[in-house]
Amino acid sequence: MAPAAKALDPARLSPWVDPLPLPSLVKGTGMRPDPQDATRQIPFYRIEIEEIYQKVHRDLPPTRMWGFNGTSPGPIFETRSGQGLMVEWANRLPAKHFLPIDHTLCGAEPEKPEVRCVVHLHGGRTPAASDGYPEDWVVPGKSFTCHYPNRQDAALLFYHDHTMGINRLNIYAGLQGLFVIRDDAEDALNLPKERYEIPLMLCDRFLRADGQLEYPVSGDEKKPWVPEVYSNVMLVNGALAPYLDVEPRKYRFRVMNGSNSRFFRLSLGELLEMQIIGGDQGLLQAPVKTKRVLLTPAERTDIVFDFSQYAGQKIVLRSDSFDILQFRVAKTPVTDESALPAMLRRVERIPEANAIQTRRLTLDETMNDVQESMGMLLNKTPWHAPVTEKPALSTTEIWELVNLTEDTHPIHLHMVRFQLLDRRRFDVFDFQDTGELRYTGRPIPPAAEEAGWKDTIRCEKGYVTRIIVPFEGYAGRYVWHCHLLEHEDNEMMRPYEVLPT
Ligand code: C2O
Ligand code: CU
Repeated sequence: MAPAAKALDPARLSPWVDPLPLPSLVKGTGMRPDPQDATRQIPFYRIEIEEIYQKVHRDLPPTRMWGFNGTSPGPIFETRSGQGLMVEWANRLPAKHFLPIDHTLCGAEPEKPEVRCVVHLHGGRTPAASDGYPEDWVVPGKSFTCHYPNRQDAALLFYHDHTMGINRLNIYAGLQGLFVIRDDAEDALNLPKERYEIPLMLCDRFLRADGQLEYPVSGDEKKPWVPEVYSNVMLVNGALAPYLDVEPRKYRFRVMNGSNSRFFRLSLGELLEMQIIGGDQGLLQAPVKTKRVLLTPAERTDIVFDFSQYAGQKIVLRSDSFDILQFRVAKTPVTDESALPAMLRRVERIPEANAIQTRRLTLDETMNDVQESMGMLLNKTPWHAPVTEKPALSTTEIWELVNLTEDTHPIHLHMVRFQLLDRRRFDVFDFQDTGELRYTGRPIPPAAEEAGWKDTIRCEKGYVTRIIVPFEGYAGRYVWHCHLLEHEDNEMMRPYEVLPT
């Protein structure tokens, strides 16, 4: 990576001078007939995707970003399970990109318009036509309308750009926001809610001394793509080192990793104990006590923390050496009527015998002939090759993700939710030589906080990660990919097709 010019030194900015921004609730613009049931009307939203200038810190000038309806992260959607809604996503971006496009990447060829966007609802059980297929992008001045039926359990989802070949740049510029689905089962638990339920979208960004975004480049002008991005500041809800005033009581934090590449290892104060109550696709069976939470890009976690013993104190949320957010706990005791039940919901483990097929799929790193230019692929297959994964609707499959690379990759499948079966160490060299899987360890079952429903799974190097996936929902063309955005943009993404039955 070429050293970036005039990097901001975050140590020279005073931390904890700005209040934590809370994303505003998206405002509807009327009702429309439900495309799946003309007898009812569902809410309609129009969202403008535009260039904005937004302050990330009191002592920095506004930063150029791309946002939704004037903010980044975008406004938060709140809906209920089975309550469909429609969104018109309107591209109002300028004609030129402000981050370095790599025209050698698939989908970002020089003849393509520079600025394009398409929005995907991550974790949504969405009909294919509304799923934001990477090639379904529109140019500035155009818009596209999506229908989100939300026939799924309560969960924290998020929406983000998914444009072929420039997805990492569009998201880095700011094109992501949160989307909450609620349901009666979750409401009945009486978890901390309203102003005691705080969304936290975390990401790292590289800021220059003038407060502007810098996206690192390789140094090769023709091929600026870099394999990973690790930046110098942490933003939470778009702010650098903000604070939040809290009461001495329980809070619920809905946390999402919105970084391009960075993994978070979150802790509170001097390793205080938190309770993880949920993951990507909703609540766990029971709370899990922990002092650290590992979160790869696109993963979500749901945390309850009780500040009641810390009245009058200040507690910092950290990830490794980065200080992210300061909680200032008020002195005056309050009554806390919220609950943290010992049992949250039933999460039935799917028996392996339910699977009608097992697919063995490799995660690969390739070296191009051109010196040092690395590529990543799924199953050694480029994006444009014919679709090879065609599960039938309403059947269950096991996918064995065989990681042959030197990296950990968060692998995400669109439309479905799944469960982690296990991870198991194997001999990579043997596999490369013979194509045979020779395991060198016992299967490691999921940790308690990973035993719920997932949509993005950490595939560690040297391990086979097995997931079991019920393909419930809709037939049609979707994608699966690595959620390290630099990898995804360099073809670590494949289409897959759910066949009608
Ligand atoms: Cu966050 Cu293809 O998705
Ligand atoms: Cu990857």
